[in-house]
Amino acid sequence: MMRSLVVVIVLLTGMGAAQVRAEEGKPPLHHLSASACGECHQEIYLQWLGSMHSQSSALNDPIHKVMYAIQAGDPTQEDVKLKATGGYPVCLKCHAPNAARDGKTKLDAVEAYGEGVTCVSCHTMLEFQGTVQGKEDSKPKMGSDAFTFSNMHLQGPNGAFAGKDPIHAPGSPTGETSVNAFPHQANGKLFKTSDICLGCHEKNVNPNGIPVCTTGPELTQSGNTVTCQSCHMPTINGFSDHSMAGGHSQAKLKRGILMTMTGEKRGNGAAISVKLKNLLAHNYPTGAPFRFVVLKVVGLDAKGEVIWKNFVTNPVEEDPKGVLMLKLTDEADKPVPPMLAKKIKGDSRLKPGEERNLDYDLPVSGIVKVRAELSYSLLLPPMIKQFDAELPAEVKQPVQVARTELDL
Ligand code: HEC
Ligand code: HEC
Ligand code: HEC
Ligand code: HEC
Ligand code: HEC
Repeated sequence: MMRSLVVVIVLLTGMGAAQVRAEEGKPPLHHLSASACGECHQEIYLQWLGSMHSQSSALNDPIHKVMYAIQAGDPTQEDVKLKATGGYPVCLKCHAPNAARDGKTKLDAVEAYGEGVTCVSCHTMLEFQGTVQGKEDSKPKMGSDAFTFSNMHLQGPNGAFAGKDPIHAPGSPTGETSVNAFPHQANGKLFKTSDICLGCHEKNVNPNGIPVCTTGPELTQSGNTVTCQSCHMPTINGFSDHSMAGGHSQAKLKRGILMTMTGEKRGNGAAISVKLKNLLAHNYPTGAPFRFVVLKVVGLDAKGEVIWKNFVTNPVEEDPKGVLMLKLTDEADKPVPPMLAKKIKGDSRLKPGEERNLDYDLPVSGIVKVRAELSYSLLLPPMIKQFDAELPAEVKQPVQVARTELDL
């Protein structure tokens, strides 16, 4: 809220960053802050400001911040190394790509570093080179390494003003140009295809070579040809929406899953079947390896009292089929954080388009109603425990993504 307020004030007083830029000389395109673009693209700017892309650096995202601190260090220091490899923190290539392009780690040194995945991170991308390295090197090219960049032209889907004269800042009394220094180029091949997302979203491989995030292959292996943008950047008021809703948005999460339930009284109790269908072209849940989806089923008697539950305290042990998650372990099959994983011990997430039936016997008499609820957590329960003090409440709280009831 505070940030958007400040921006509105800047916009109203006409001291936009683009003018400041003209006075100070010309920093490279990838150092331009989002507020310089927001001067004209206000709606897109506010959508982006509310997105996880604007929060993706270790200065802003609380979950990323605690993990970055453990795996790398202080995001306000230069020369931070990734502890596991002693090399440049690879995280920044996706989470703060403008800093990665300069080989820097002090994210508060330039606004466009700390802004994470900001306007110029994407709109200077020229070509996607794929995430496959050479034959000898099995490590994928990640984030900013997977693209070539333009230092001359902003890239966009249609190339507004390509070949035309510079335009003038709307409302500028002197007609002073501000975007003339950033001519645009049409680059539909990158901006209208999933390629622009895949450099960062295709795959993330940990230092042991274990693929911990695989949204790209999930989609391509499903045979779907739909682009990421068709779902994640719908057209709103004539523009492509830049809010990029995902796991942090309950509304978006609800749209990805269909849950239905059938069943009947049987013997002294009931038998029911809960059907989950993934409506998406990638896994449900996808992305970060610590997302955690749990099905809770309860049986109610005529007074509305719960007389049966599919689990009491720990769903992973008591009803594993009702849990959708990626299980990462060490060699001894002990669950470990993604960075330390040596094995994928199991993957119960729903595949693209997958329909799964979960059958339950409720062997207690007096059940008149069954309720099924599906909840989504950003973090696995042990991680919430571990980082409890450092994380704000909203990222620790599970959110309900589906609910259905059946009267027997
Ligand atoms: C002074 C105003 C102004 C500023 C500042 C500005 N733009 Fe634009 N931009 C425009 C206008 C006007 C259009 C054309 C809009 C249209 O086509 O509807 C445009 C179009 C675009 C497009 C669409 C190009 C396409 O291929 O369709 C992109 C992408 C874009 N701007 C990105 C940026 C970025 C990134 C910044 C900040 C570095 C920025 N703009 C700064 C005014 C501005
Ligand atoms: C994660 C990458 C990414 C970021 C960050 C990003 N954009 Fe875009 N932008 C895109 C893509 C992809 C499209 C094209 C969508 C399409 O045509 O399907 C686009 C389209 C646009 C357009 C053309 C709008 C239209 O509907 O034709 C403008 C203008 C624009 N972006 C401005 C901005 C500004 C300003 C920011 C920062 C506040 C920004 N973008 C941040 C990827 C990005
Ligand atoms: C430069 C790297 C980069 C590019 C390019 C990029 N992303 Fe992201 N994206 C990220 C990072 C990093 C995050 C995680 C941010 C966080 O939670 O800290 C993210 C998060 C997301 C999320 C999750 C939001 C949530 O609620 O958790 C969605 C959805 C998303 N991106 C969609 C896209 C789409 C669609 C494209 C292509 C148009 C795209 N991204 C391009 C790096 C990128
Ligand atoms: C058919 C629509 C659709 C398509 C196509 C699609 N997504 Fe999604 N995506 C969703 C929905 C709905 C969610 C929320 C449910 C979930 O997290 O699985 C989501 C979630 C996400 C998340 C958030 C994961 C998290 O844990 O926060 C990311 C990242 C993401 N998508 C990236 C992509 C990328 C990259 C592509 C293209 C390769 C893509 N999506 C294609 C609909 C789609
Ligand atoms: C190949 C690009 C890439 C690299 C490298 C990368 N990430 Fe990510 N990261 C992403 C994307 C994309 C997402 C969003 C996926 C999603 O929302 O599920 C993400 C999400 C996250 C999240 C979840 C944030 C949230 O708010 O839910 C954390 C934490 C995280 N990354 C930490 C790290 C750390 C620490 C490193 C370095 C050791 C790292 N990442 C390296 C691309 C990357």
